[in-house]
Amino acid sequence: MEETPVNIIQGTQKNSKGTLVFSSDHGGLEYKEYLKEIARDWGYNIIDCGTHSTLSVDYPDYIKPVVQEVLSGAKGVLICGSGLGMSIGANRFKGIRAALCCDQLLAKLAREHNDANILVLGERLIGKDQAVACLEAFLSASFLGGRHERRVEKLDKLAL
Ligand code: RB5
Repeated sequence: MEETPVNIIQGTQKNSKGTLVFSSDHGGLEYKEYLKEIARDWGYNIIDCGTHSTLSVDYPDYIKPVVQEVLSGAKGVLICGSGLGMSIGANRFKGIRAALCCDQLLAKLAREHNDANILVLGERLIGKDQAVACLEAFLSASFLGGRHERRVEKLDKLAL
């Protein structure tokens, strides 16, 4: 049975660090639940676009709600079993730069060099602590601009 994504807004904190929007399929549910609590403790406003149960669902159904929030200025986190399906799907949207990361260095470079606006994680491929480390690195790093600006502009022009 297909579940309809329902956006759940969790906590609008005064002086928040910004909005983080999450979604996962069943293969990424556990880490989504874990990471969003941690990110809330770090001071982010959280939007959870599903999935909300362990029922098997199709990851493409959970990408667009996150993309819409990211194109309005939030940062996104997509999680599935491998991270592959979520990253392939998210990168089809113009203006989206979704980076599938398995360690802190990749997560940092994704922000610094690629101005990635969505972090993608594979729950079945990395440990929970590693997932937290990736999220922390992604959120702490900033786009360096300079020569990377031109390259990111060219990336965005590749989108159909
Ligand atoms: C679901 O079994 C799995 O295919 C999905 O979570 C993801 O890994 C797809 O790329």
